[in-house]
Amino acid sequence: MTETATGTDWQSWQESWDRQQEWYMPDREERFRVMLDMVEAVVGPEPRVLDLACGTGSITDRLLKRFPNATSTGVDLDPALLAIARGTFEGDDRVTFVTADLKDPDWTERLPHTSYDAVLTATALHWLHSEPLAALYGQLGGLVRDGGVFMNADHMIDTGTPRINAAERAHRHAAMDRAKAAGALDWAEWWAVAAKDPVLAAPTAERFKIYGEHADGDMPSVDWHARTLVASGFGEARAVWASPSDSLVLAVK
Ligand SMILES: C[S@@+](CC[C@H](N)C(=O)[O-])C[C@H]1O[C@@H](n2cnc3c(N)ncnc32)[C@H](O)[C@@H]1O
Repeated sequence: MTETATGTDWQSWQESWDRQQEWYMPDREERFRVMLDMVEAVVGPEPRVLDLACGTGSITDRLLKRFPNATSTGVDLDPALLAIARGTFEGDDRVTFVTADLKDPDWTERLPHTSYDAVLTATALHWLHSEPLAALYGQLGGLVRDGGVFMNADHMIDTGTPRINAAERAHRHAAMDRAKAAGALDWAEWWAVAAKDPVLAAPTAERFKIYGEHADGDMPSVDWHARTLVASGFGEARAVWASPSDSLVLAVK
């Protein structure tokens, strides 16, 4: 990674994070675009957003580029990804980052606000098993204002279609193998680079103590997400975008 005269080149870390995530999800930017279209459609262009399990703050970055009058709270538990997020947005008073474990029953008490227009999350909640995820959805029911939105873009598996799922997976992995042969970094390789960086080495060691490689969770179906969100106090919920493996579920309070 290159370093600037004033310290770490956070933008390079953002770009390498994006490339690594895109190796798994070539359509990652499209899902962010649809997510922000639906933010604009339901709560308008100046929302107060909670970027849930924000990682390096990828949603916050796209949000502020598109809606400069938006504000964002990013919450995550990973000290290394939060270091990149904090370095990137340093001095931007529209953005606050909070360290919290979404499985902690009191995590919402760490937030600077008690209510949000939009809670947005991507590629993260499959790190939780269904039971803690349902509990988290219950908390989000209290955190999204009436008329506000929750959106989750993630892997969502329909176990009723095993042949489609197997064919889709084999096809996706063949493309990933080709990209890998052309030099793409996967999750483990990206973290090996971070572990060698003078600034990120210590928080990277800490994140491996917290998570191991990453936490184990479930990938329930779109129907499960929609049903659980409605049971958590949202008025309606459904997918607003889908790829062969992933969906973006929107719930309106
Ligand atoms: C694959 S990353 C996605 C990050 C970001 N949303 C993105 O799209 O680039 C998954 C994120 O979920 C976070 N995460 C997983 N479980 C968590 C928990 N229990 N509490 C807080 N954050 C969690 C991880 O630390 C990680 O930053």
